[in-house]
Amino acid sequence: MTLFERVFNGNDAVYGLTEQAIDAAIAQHGEEKAVSFPNTAYCLPCYYAVTGVKVTNLKELKEALGVVKTLMTREPRLNDAFMSGVATALCAEFIEALKYIDGAAPYEEPLYGHLADAVIRELGVPLVTGDIPGVAVILGSAPTVEEGVALVKSYQAQGILVTLVGGICDQVAEAGMATGANVRVIPLGKDVTAVIHVVSVALRAALIFGNVTPGDAKTLMEYTMQRVPAFVNAFAPLDDVIVACGAGAIALGFPVITNETENIARVPKSLIVQEDVSKFNATSLEARDIKIKITNIDIPVAFASAFEGEIIRRGDMQVEFDGSRVDCAELVHTVEASEIEDHKITVVGPEVDEMELGSKNSIAYVVKVAGKSMQPDFEPVIERKFHNYINCIEGVYHTGQRDMQRIRISKNAFAAGFRLKHIGEVLYASVKNEFEAVVDKCEVVIYTDPAECTRIRHEVAIPTFNKRDDRLKNLTDESVDVYYSCILCQAFSPSHVCVVTPERLGLCGAVSWLDAKATNELDPNGPCQVITKERPIDERIGEYEDVNEAVKRLSQGALEDVSLYSIMEKPMTSCGCFECICGIEPFSNGVCIANREYAGMTPLGMTFPELASMTGGGVQTPGFMGHGKHFIGSKKFMKAEGGIERIVWMPKELKEFVADRLNQTAKELYGIDNFTDMIGDETVATDPETLVEFLTEKGHPALGMDPMM
Ligand code: SF4
Ligand code: NI
Ligand code: NI
Repeated sequence: MTLFERVFNGNDAVYGLTEQAIDAAIAQHGEEKAVSFPNTAYCLPCYYAVTGVKVTNLKELKEALGVVKTLMTREPRLNDAFMSGVATALCAEFIEALKYIDGAAPYEEPLYGHLADAVIRELGVPLVTGDIPGVAVILGSAPTVEEGVALVKSYQAQGILVTLVGGICDQVAEAGMATGANVRVIPLGKDVTAVIHVVSVALRAALIFGNVTPGDAKTLMEYTMQRVPAFVNAFAPLDDVIVACGAGAIALGFPVITNETENIARVPKSLIVQEDVSKFNATSLEARDIKIKITNIDIPVAFASAFEGEIIRRGDMQVEFDGSRVDCAELVHTVEASEIEDHKITVVGPEVDEMELGSKNSIAYVVKVAGKSMQPDFEPVIERKFHNYINCIEGVYHTGQRDMQRIRISKNAFAAGFRLKHIGEVLYASVKNEFEAVVDKCEVVIYTDPAECTRIRHEVAIPTFNKRDDRLKNLTDESVDVYYSCILCQAFSPSHVCVVTPERLGLCGAVSWLDAKATNELDPNGPCQVITKERPIDERIGEYEDVNEAVKRLSQGALEDVSLYSIMEKPMTSCGCFECICGIEPFSNGVCIANREYAGMTPLGMTFPELASMTGGGVQTPGFMGHGKHFIGSKKFMKAEGGIERIVWMPKELKEFVADRLNQTAKELYGIDNFTDMIGDETVATDPETLVEFLTEKGHPALGMDPMM
């Protein structure tokens, strides 16, 4: 049989199953029965992305199947095979969607099934920074459990996001391997149709970040081919259905690597036979042209960004360090080059061996740096990375910062020989690696002696933090001479530009003005460029000629003008990875804000994913704006429309997170005490009528303000 025939056969088989499944569902539930995936604004995302049509019930699903049939032409040509591949993928999506009818939860831990829009938005920044260099789709059962697990771990160690479909899900479970989005290994499901859940991620990325018009299949496929670094590893034996799915993957630009040797045609760069499963990794990276950043660190456990989200439970820990209970600190300290010795690592006090199993201890580490271009402003920027660095160690967990950090070392890591001096190695290597342009020499001192920790914390660290906080307080948009652009997200959102100012951080929440300044210093031709602010046009909305020129240039002409402080007039664009979205609420003259973690309804009648889908892709959408969490307490938050007084609703969790700063700003700007108490949340109202009642009762200032539109 030719490859074409195999694709067509597989496609026909899946089509037949889909038709039966839809007919059976209609017989059972009736045509009007709703169908959708949970936590997405895109209904059946793949079908919507390819055709531009939103399917909402079984009747429309049946009609959609008719459209799919038109893709299934049977000439023995490459395009026919690709389209049949796409048709197979769409059928898979229909079959999977039927599993969710009536709010069913068809997947149980550790399987994921459908992934929420919020998951895709979260992937934005790690994908653009190369922290996640690629996405692997592993399909079928590996020849042995050991080979399967070794392959998964090889990708994990490179930071690659691994999705699993079919027998490999059982294989990793059998080996007792920890899986989950937090360690970047996501078992999707055991049926081959579950592969659609990763295709759905790729296609939604095009809609969310790429501003691709749903239905523009050509642009859609160009986008996935050029910007989504995914590939497929399919284990032998391949049946015709898998071959048909593979054709769909190739149509999207994702190469397929397989160890099948029988009855398979090779297609250069697209369908690659690699008999040796241990070489799948290398072959895949080469085929998709993925480069891995290597940081070689001499420690006895793995070091990879995939371990950042790993959690260590109490029962699994050897020892812990807890800044909330005992004196701890983490600090970057700039010194003269003559005062330090490069790569010197000292532990002052007991090592882990001398600590009791399960005990709580003090720790303070001071990373001394020296360099001609080093500035004290970069200290907090470097220091904030400690969290990522230490978390990347397999078997070590880090939360918090400054003098409130908490670290756990697992029993397994300890047994593998991991000691505190290795934390020093990790900090040294990571700082030198990432900040080489400003750090010439670096030395690490780790204190565990309790008296020394107390001294470092109270006499060195806290005074430094206080000084920095004063500096930050005085950093306002007016007090600086320049702003910075950030175009990191252009990898996915080609016309998006963030303008980062002291009082307005990047919408992803990860880039403050100081971060952007440091990034610019480290790489003057990199993603963050200086923007002057010498020619104001309109101070009220924060519009500058210099900023407009920069934005126009950096967006390749896609954007003419932006304001820094308005949500209605020339608002800043969004890429898609924003932490929060705010949208206007006409009944109260205010705005509602939802954060990515919030899964419920908002008084705007939309959930976070639905609100989020109103903006993105580098386009201006007055009335909706993506932003970082820390922007909420800023005096510049929609200043043009009256500022934070307009905020009428936020999820409770977000409200608590921003309360201190928001209350302080409200007190300063308007003399209002405890402003957050006037703001509604989901425990108060998720509809506008109840919300307005609540606001009236509280005397919320927005009610008396001018309408925004
Ligand atoms: Fe992306 Fe803006 Fe964050 Fe830069 S600041 S990473 S462009 S969201
Ligand atoms: Ni103390
Ligand atoms: Ni982004």
